[in-house]
Amino acid sequence: MSRAAASRTESSLHSEPVQRTLRRLHAAAAGDWKKFLGITPRYLAGLVMGKKMHETITPAVARDIYMPVSPAKGEFLYITARAIGARNIIEFGTSFGISTIYLAAAAKDNGGGRVTGSEIEPAKHAQAVANLAAAGLGDSVDIRLGDALQTLRDITAPVDLVFMDGWKVLYLPLLKQLKPVLRPGAVVLADNMSGFRKSLADFSDYLLSERNGFHAVTLEFGDGLAYAVYLGEQTESA
Ligand SMILES: C[S@@+](CC[C@H](N)C(=O)[O-])C[C@H]1O[C@@H](n2cnc3c(N)ncnc32)[C@H](O)[C@@H]1O
Repeated sequence: MSRAAASRTESSLHSEPVQRTLRRLHAAAAGDWKKFLGITPRYLAGLVMGKKMHETITPAVARDIYMPVSPAKGEFLYITARAIGARNIIEFGTSFGISTIYLAAAAKDNGGGRVTGSEIEPAKHAQAVANLAAAGLGDSVDIRLGDALQTLRDITAPVDLVFMDGWKVLYLPLLKQLKPVLRPGAVVLADNMSGFRKSLADFSDYLLSERNGFHAVTLEFGDGLAYAVYLGEQTESA
């Protein structure tokens, strides 16, 4: 057996229950565009009234829309988490659990790690818990129901990896809240940096300013993925 084939069999990501669950979920998510069409009039009406997107498209309005990472981005989450040996992984915005499956497979393969996820919409949360169980990864996750700013308040150090994929208005406050528990070398990945360039301008500036302790780039991957490494508290040089 070749080395690649051997590692394929050993990885949780390529186990039958994980692959079967991912195929089912990615196929279901392919119908998202029809649901987006359904909420477009509401979004446009909000724009006319001067409302911000998150004020019109609330989690409840988007309760049956997956909005998942692509399979390629999911694989990227998996290998990034494997590369840094991440065992304590935090996810903002779990939805139906697609990205969570990729991260949980990595946490498990890194030796008994865990993903702490967060989802504010109750029906999605229940589905995510069921999907992770169907993938055989129930023991590698703790998916918390409620507003991430509250449910992720008691996270303890050392956090190895954070994946930001919830509503954009919370990226910066949540990053500031989690920063004290990041270990030096922790990776922060944040999705949709190009699609939400304006809403994420403050978050982007914060990550790019080295005095905040991060070294970051935005990868042209899908609609932009920020990849930041936490280097630790920066001290003023003379
Ligand atoms: C883009 S989707 C996440 C997709 C998921 N990461 C995946 O790849 O399958 C964003 C999710 O964030 C959730 N969300 C929005 N605001 C939230 C909040 N304050 N706390 C927790 N979840 C929130 C939404 O309900 C939605 O399901």
